[in-house]
Amino acid sequence: MKTNSDLKSLLETLQFLYDSGEVDVLDASPVNRLNAIKESKPAPVAPSVEELQDIKLLEKVSKTEARRKAEELAYNANTLDELYKALLSFEGCSLKTTAINTVFSDGVSTSDVMFVGEAPGADEDRLGKPFVGQSGQLLDKFLAAAGFSRSKNVYITNTIPWRPPGNRQPTPEENYICMPFLERHIELVQPKMIVMLGSTALKTLHNPKEGIVTLRGKWMPYTTSHKGFTVDTLPIFHPAFLLRSPSQKRLFWRDILSVRLRSETV
Ligand code: URA
Repeated sequence: MKTNSDLKSLLETLQFLYDSGEVDVLDASPVNRLNAIKESKPAPVAPSVEELQDIKLLEKVSKTEARRKAEELAYNANTLDELYKALLSFEGCSLKTTAINTVFSDGVSTSDVMFVGEAPGADEDRLGKPFVGQSGQLLDKFLAAAGFSRSKNVYITNTIPWRPPGNRQPTPEENYICMPFLERHIELVQPKMIVMLGSTALKTLHNPKEGIVTLRGKWMPYTTSHKGFTVDTLPIFHPAFLLRSPSQKRLFWRDILSVRLRSETV
């Protein structure tokens, strides 16, 4: 049985809670106070112009720093093996974090002819070799018809050694950051000619005003910025484009024959 003093102390406790703002203590159903905390969270605020400028500046700094690191690693490599190891140790390109393999090259590194594609796709990423998927198999057929093969007389690489997620094109920033590795690759192989497969390879090496449709089939010299090694280069369509537009195979074949012809005279 409750005594008067019990009731007094209960009333005092209720008064205390009421005075503290806990007016729901007398509600029939329980109150989840966590909801109130969640609801009182401030809504996210869009960054100010100044903050956006800071973010852009940070991105620019990290891009410049990544490129500087790529130059340091690539230019210190004196063999293809060292260049491959330099790529394995490079952490400046985020594509590496989602790729399975670092796809370096395939073929004979002493060949006169070096092919440069865009970036590995899913098959290349899985197997660790460039141009092993559908477009690579088509490329191999054209090469064989012109007397070329990876096991004898061509060398193949890409502008980027890591697969972009979803097979998207590499961004200009990714190509800019990884460029020293491609340049050093060219300097170490010292090919007599480079065939650029598609617009990404063309843009990465030459950044021309005209596109691949205008420039394909036209030989143009390229000089590396590091050691000043000069080599003849030829833009041609990417074999993946031929899979979508088979009528362009005629021009592709003409360009491959141009490579064959030149390789007989160098
Ligand atoms: N496309 C490319 O550009 N490179 C490859 O290695 C495969 C597909």
